[in-house]
Amino acid sequence: MNKSDAYHLKYHITPPYGLLNDPNGLAFFKHQYHVFYQWNPKGTEHRNKCWGHVVSSDLVHWQRKSVALEPSEWYDKDGIYSGGAIVHQEKLYLFYTGNVIRDDGVKESYQCAAISEDGEHFQKMGPLFEHPKGYTRHVRDPKVWRDRNGSWWLIVGAQREDLTGDTLIYKSTDLSVWECQGSFLEHDREFGYMWECPDLLHFAENDIFVFSPQGLPEAGEYYRNPNQSGYMVGKFMNTGKFIGNLAHFKELDRGFDFYAPQSFKVNDRTIMFGWMSGMNEEAERAVPTIQEGWIHALTLPREIVLSNGVLYQKPLPELQLLRLEGVHSQKDIHKNGVWLLPSLQVECIVHLSKLTENFKMIIRNAVEINYDSAENSITVWRTNWLTNQREYRKATLANQLADMQIFIESSSLEIFLNEGEEVFTLRYFLEDTEQRTVVLEAGDNEGKIEIYQLQECDVIINP
Ligand code: FRU
Repeated sequence: MNKSDAYHLKYHITPPYGLLNDPNGLAFFKHQYHVFYQWNPKGTEHRNKCWGHVVSSDLVHWQRKSVALEPSEWYDKDGIYSGGAIVHQEKLYLFYTGNVIRDDGVKESYQCAAISEDGEHFQKMGPLFEHPKGYTRHVRDPKVWRDRNGSWWLIVGAQREDLTGDTLIYKSTDLSVWECQGSFLEHDREFGYMWECPDLLHFAENDIFVFSPQGLPEAGEYYRNPNQSGYMVGKFMNTGKFIGNLAHFKELDRGFDFYAPQSFKVNDRTIMFGWMSGMNEEAERAVPTIQEGWIHALTLPREIVLSNGVLYQKPLPELQLLRLEGVHSQKDIHKNGVWLLPSLQVECIVHLSKLTENFKMIIRNAVEINYDSAENSITVWRTNWLTNQREYRKATLANQLADMQIFIESSSLEIFLNEGEEVFTLRYFLEDTEQRTVVLEAGDNEGKIEIYQLQECDVIINP
């Protein structure tokens, strides 16, 4: 079945067919960027997980490779779950969780590795260590890095036997013998029932621990999605402990659809991809692309910057390669304006030079971005495709709103505010491909709007 123009995402990584979820194994190896992703090639349900694989030389145009890992052994027979990658001695190492459902229905998980010399064909090495004591079978998503002294560290998301979330850390000097060092972040506070996809980001001034806790209760503007992905700034110690405070946990993305992000570092830049979904099962089943035999996408790559304790997420400058022949339209903002999008692949930048009152931006008569000047807050509204009800997500900004950079596709939006101080990522589904208006009710505010038409590159070029 073909992907329809109504919903197909043409500059994001999507599966050729089937279901895509988390980004996995991000690496730069032999002059190419490698992105793997959770992939069910056999259907649009969460089953038969393999690692799909795409490569790129510019992080923008991607080429598909054949499936990298699929269930084949006793320790991964029911799914190759998420994990990370490292490059060592000219080999690409993938770390993943083998999912096993025993004949009696009991689930097991094994943390495994696979190695490749060409970045395309992988040899499985089997489980790395025994299942830790004191934890349920929900232990998964290994991420590995090397410290300055040459030691290897592996963190893995976990659930304690008292059904609270945790992250475990292991140490190795040879990538083969791994010793458990206990909890990565010592805490006695209950913070969700399971932590998925842990990641550690290193910066000169500090370190950042990213993870995806499940089961946090909604709290005002916060934790409005079924599960959250967030971070805390702190310090990784050579004892294997992360010193940080759960009370400072902050969501990475304030939109509706962002989960299970993963990062990698190339030439001093920390680049992150996320899974563009945060849907509950019912909403997921109602996504219209299921009729076309595919579902979900990864977010655009974002550079993560830590500056004076604040994390920024900036769309990569490489994304400018997508712009077709300069700016399509550039105008001063005046009271009420209507723009027509040249296509459904567009980047729209709004600079605000004078901001004294509320404004509203309505994209394709479907998504509304509201600025409240008294609160300095942004509220984003969309129609829920399952319930048909309007719903919103909201964030209060730390700094006065100065700019918005919005990546528009036929069924997704990524809204970067103040150079990535806050981001809203969301899906929306509109059948009418002719609906291409952007309405700006700007009031007395002043500024400029720039619209760029982006390549309809159908990002993924099949081999
Ligand atoms: C996160 C997650 C991971 C797991 C994978 C399975 O979305 O649940 O914890 O490894 O998806 O597809």
